[in-house]
Amino acid sequence: MTSRPLAHALADAERKLTAAGVWAPRSDAEVLAAHVLGVLEPDAELDAVQAAELDRLVAQRAERIPLAYVTGWAELGGVRVAVGPGVFVPRPHTEPLLAWGLERLRGVSDPVVVDLCTGSGALALAIAHARPDATVHAVELSDVALDFALRNAKQRAEAGDTAIRLVQGDVTDPELFHDLHGAVDLVVANPPFVPMDVDMLPEWSEHQPLMAMYAGSDGTFVLRHVIALAARLARPGGGFAVEHGDPQVAVVAALMRDTGVLTGITNHPDHHGDPRFTTAHRRI
Ligand SMILES: C[S@@+](CC[C@H](N)C(=O)[O-])C[C@H]1O[C@@H](n2cnc3c(N)ncnc32)[C@H](O)[C@@H]1O
Repeated sequence: MTSRPLAHALADAERKLTAAGVWAPRSDAEVLAAHVLGVLEPDAELDAVQAAELDRLVAQRAERIPLAYVTGWAELGGVRVAVGPGVFVPRPHTEPLLAWGLERLRGVSDPVVVDLCTGSGALALAIAHARPDATVHAVELSDVALDFALRNAKQRAEAGDTAIRLVQGDVTDPELFHDLHGAVDLVVANPPFVPMDVDMLPEWSEHQPLMAMYAGSDGTFVLRHVIALAARLARPGGGFAVEHGDPQVAVVAALMRDTGVLTGITNHPDHHGDPRFTTAHRRI
């Protein structure tokens, strides 16, 4: 059986991914090689089966299939979740929002948390992992995404994390989580917020579910409902963090102010320094 030096395989993969327009070709090649080999040792050799498997994965990525769909997983807050066609891939951009939420819960024992628009369940599961004493509720509208979230939740509970409470529902429904109104210590949300006329890279526009990204002409259709719902859910002093796009900083702040109960409204950057999420808390 012939073998192939890892260095050659990586160079070949990087070349193919570069030609396909993938934006981080070297890094993606390394992730895919690690997926095949487990660990990347500089002088590793791929056997014929491993080399063929890497070629297959690289060809998929070269079709601009999201890296996480190719490997089948993504991570948020150090928690790995299964992802695939039909569910949004959690992004590193959401890590600072998660960190803010966990900081907000510091000193609060047995907190009640709600994750609106949970997708794969990533945010809810990362919070449940970091805070075993939390009761974490999460809602998702899409059948396929909910199925991923249920499987991820089952897997995390089997791994020892506190089970989260997942429901299928619509954040535009005024009755959603009616029993939790005024009782929630932290509401987090990464809803769809892309305006309909914005073009996206194929990884999003061709492969990820449109309902996870687009939200009306200005991208605020779901955000409006999420903000209104968070204002109803938060207990006095309860925190709220919502992700949004760069152009929505002012409108999100205005929508929060218009609730009449959300205060301490602050915008925060993501790891690129772009305005990415806004936080507030319910007036005491
Ligand atoms: C940007 S994705 C974020 C998923 C997850 N929170 C994350 O960060 O990976 C937005 C999610 O909101 C869901 N969604 C869209 N409209 C919704 C609605 N009206 N009610 C509940 N969920 C909705 C989508 O199906 C999608 O899973």
